[in-house]
Parts: sequence; structure tokens; C-alpha cells
Amino acid sequence: MRGLSLILLLSFVVVFAFAFTSTAGSETHYHDFVIQARPVKRLCRTHNTITVNGQFPGPTLIIRNGDTLVIRTTNAARYNITLHWHGIRQLRNPWADGPEYVTQCPIQPGATYTYRFTVQNQEGTLWWHAHSRWLRATVYGALIILPRLGASYPFPTPNCEFPILLGEWWDRNPMDVLRLSQFTGAAPNVSDAYTINGQPGDLYRCSNRGTTVFPVSLGETVLLRVINSALNQELFFSVANHQLTVVGVDSSYIRPFTTNVIMVGPGQTTNVLLTANQAPGRYYMAARAYNTAQNAPFDNTTTTAILQYTTPFSRGTQPSRPILPVLPAYNDTNTAMGFTMRVKNPSQTRVPTQIDENLFFTVGLGLINCSRPSVRCQGPNNTRFAASMNNVSFVLPRTNSIMQAYYQGTPGVFTTDFPPVPPIQFDYTGNVSRGLWQPVKGTKVYKLKYGARVQIVLQDTSIVTTEDHPMHLHGYNFAVVGMGFGNFNAQRDTPRFNLFDPPLRNTIGTTPGGWVAIRFTANNPGVWLMHCHIDAHLGWGLAMSFLVENGVGPSQSVIPPPADLPRC
Ligand code: C2O
Repeated sequence: MRGLSLILLLSFVVVFAFAFTSTAGSETHYHDFVIQARPVKRLCRTHNTITVNGQFPGPTLIIRNGDTLVIRTTNAARYNITLHWHGIRQLRNPWADGPEYVTQCPIQPGATYTYRFTVQNQEGTLWWHAHSRWLRATVYGALIILPRLGASYPFPTPNCEFPILLGEWWDRNPMDVLRLSQFTGAAPNVSDAYTINGQPGDLYRCSNRGTTVFPVSLGETVLLRVINSALNQELFFSVANHQLTVVGVDSSYIRPFTTNVIMVGPGQTTNVLLTANQAPGRYYMAARAYNTAQNAPFDNTTTTAILQYTTPFSRGTQPSRPILPVLPAYNDTNTAMGFTMRVKNPSQTRVPTQIDENLFFTVGLGLINCSRPSVRCQGPNNTRFAASMNNVSFVLPRTNSIMQAYYQGTPGVFTTDFPPVPPIQFDYTGNVSRGLWQPVKGTKVYKLKYGARVQIVLQDTSIVTTEDHPMHLHGYNFAVVGMGFGNFNAQRDTPRFNLFDPPLRNTIGTTPGGWVAIRFTANNPGVWLMHCHIDAHLGWGLAMSFLVENGVGPSQSVIPPPADLPRC
């Protein structure tokens, strides 16, 4: 009897597979991620580094659109941790999203939690990273979503592909860097190096041997999947003597265009095609800071990797060192903005034209005054650094996650009074009076009805400094419909919005001293964090959360939480 039903089951599976291979053919991928400290040597010194499975950077996940990932995560390290699948929409499934104390309690040392989610209608380059304090400095990896089986890219298939993870390295434990800054109230120390796939490259001490090399053959076209996984820095990226054709950002294709340099903000990804059509040899690819904050220290070093033609080339004709690409000046906002504004959807974008929720959020830094000088107030003029949205400096709950508290109906964990507009209107990018520099702390969410059509203008402020803040929204892709310098002016700026072919993204920078406008339909119920992807700013409170209510019936409601969801 059992044998017969097994045969029937098998024949069903075969029929199913036969019938649906080309259209569906979705797979489930199982992975074991063990969070563990391992010695990693960089810049001449070895640090006991938090890794996944001893790998730094962590494992690359390659899946297809429609596939399911099941990642059993075991915490064998000494810190609480969570993992986040950056840019995955997690439809009706906030339980798999990962930001600690927002959608889940952290996985405690010794504990296990299995992230289980299906990728629906997303293709491109995403990534995964720790979402607990500064652990993502070393706990991150690429998440590549290929077209469905039988489908192809909307451009000629490249001969090969490389993930390019741009990272940031401290010559000490990043968690200690964070802890010190939390104690003193001053800005955290800047990093000691940037990295490409975990390696600083030739221009740093003790880094020659490890330098990442990408082999290419003459005439080949290569897809570079560039991911900015740096903690705190926007980066310019370029390859010497080679043009880059940009074909995708985040998990969307875009209308292709060519450029010599790209700017990638923390959290963003950019897919570029490169054709190996230069004299066979060795060429540097390089990344360094795009820095917009005034009077703030930043890591001004340059990370490199080598594009190396495997086609025989006479070494005599090559300089002993590969040539470096020319990178823009650190503060070259024209180049950064010019690049970002060229990114367009390949065809007409589905973007809400009627708006139900017209939101205006100020985004920026702040300072908390101290009554008297103290070791704990080593920010500018005896203050502590802070950051806020609409003057609310976001505080993570400690006793529960917002999503769990909401689902269980536990009161006292958060409030629903996040303001839709700034509590006080002022000249946001002008000379702001000192009385407006100090935000208030709170765990406030903004409620959205299921299906609400939302516009958010993210307005940078000049409090402390104007800056490009890479704003990331969990659970959604949004259309970037406009951006500009100065204060947003609805009468003047709204008619100029691009509602035809705006790009779909999960992270977009505020124009430094300006604004950016996004639109989306709130069709994914759950609690979704929106924050600056510069971790220094996130820690200071540059975040808020949306609570998107359930719609009608199970297909518009959050699924029940998995049984192993960690408790605080
Ligand atoms: Cu890539 Cu909330 O994060």
C-alpha cells in the first residue's frame, strides 16, 4: 500500500516537473549558517572575527526567481544576532525579515532560528547581512536572484559573472568601536580600509598577496554585481580603461546606460556589464569614499582588485603595476547625483498616481545637550550625537519586538503616533536655530491601511551637517519619483515628478541638502523598518517603522509566526 502510494506520488512529481519545468520549476534551497568567531588576518593583524561558517565575506546565495530559501541559523558566537535579507520583499512574512527588536527578538548565543521565505517577482542582486548593532561589518554576503529556469536576462547573456562586495574593515573589533562611541557620545572611529570581496587590495599594508583577482578572456562580457556592504560610507567605483554599462539596481532591471564611474550607497546594489576589449593586461578596479558630511572625518583610503586578462599578454609591454582608474573627488555631488538620476525603469513603471498618504519626513542628525561636561558627552560642545526622522530619534524596544508585540496585542512596547509631517516647520536646509537640534526619543510607528497609496518626501536637514542619507525601506520596492536640492516645495516640485519610468529601489539617498520623493502601495502587511543604512546614523536613531495593517482575508494578512521565532 505504502509502495503504491509512493509510486503514485512519484509519478505525480514527474508529471508536475514535466509540465511546469519551463514556467515554474521552483526549487527550495537549504543552508546551515553557523555564526561563529574565526581568526581573520587583514592589514597585518589577526582579529577574532564574527563570520558565517568561518567565511568572510559570508557564503554567496544563488537562487532563481520563485525559489524558496530555508536558512537554519545557529548562533555559536557571544553576541545576540539576527540576519536580514536585504531587499527581499517578504510578502506577508515579516517573521523572516530580521531587524532585531523590530520583527523578531535576537537569536541568543547557543540558539537557532530558521529563516524561511520565497522570492516572488524579484530578479537581480541583493545581499544578506546581520541586523544587530555593528555585526554586519563582517557578517554579510551576496544574494543573487537569477531569472526563472528557461527565462533570460533582458540583455545578452554575459560570459561570466562576479559578485563585488564592497566592505569596510576596522583594525579592531567593530563591536568595540561601537561600544566606545555609545559610551562617549562622540562619532565612532572611521574604518581603516575598504575591501573588495573581503580584501583591501594592493594599496594597503600587508595586503598584496590577498588582493582579489578577476580573470577575464579577451572579448568576453562580464556581469559585475556591485554591492555596497560598507557600514558607513557611500562609495564611487570604477574600472581602469573600461566602460561600464549599468543594467540593474537593487532587484530591478533598468534602461541600460554607459558610464565610467558609479556611486553606490550602503545597502544599494548596481549591476554593470563590462566588455574585456582593452589591450590584454591587468587593470585595477577601485572604490573610495563619496563623502557629503561637512567637517566630519572619513576613511579616505582606496580599495582595489585586479581585472586580469587570461589571454596571453607580453609582460614587457605592461607597466609593472596595473593602472588605477580615475575616481571623482570625495565630495563630487554632481557626479553622484548625475549618475543616480540616469537610473530609469526599462518601461513604464506601475506607480500610484492618486495618493492616500502624503508624508513628509525630515531626515538628519541632532545633538543631545548635557547639563555639564562629562566623559559621556564628548560630542561637539559637550553633547551626544543623535539622529532623527521628524524629530523622533528611534529607540529599539528591549522586552519584545514591535511585530511580536503587535501580533500578540502586548501593550507598552511601541506607540502609533509617529508624525506624518515635522512637528515644527522650519527652513530645513538653511541656518537652523540651535533650539531645534535636539530630537525626542521614542518607539513610534506610523500606521498604514492595507493598500494605501503612499508618497514620502525625505527631506535632509542641515542640523549638524547636510548629508546623503541612504534611506532603506524594508518589505517594499518603491519608485523614486523625484529629487532636488534645497527645501521640497510641493507646488513647484510635484508637477515635475517622473511618474512614467521611475526606477524601483529599496534604498535611495537623500540629496545632500535636498530631498528625494518615493511612492509605493502598502500591499505588504506587517511591521517594516525604514532607516538610514549608515549604521552610525541608525544607532543614533535615524529610523522609524511602518505598521501596515492586514487587508481582507488570508491573502492580505500576515502569516502566523514560525514556532521557533525567538523570544526576548
Ligand atoms: Cu540592509 Cu535594515 O537593512
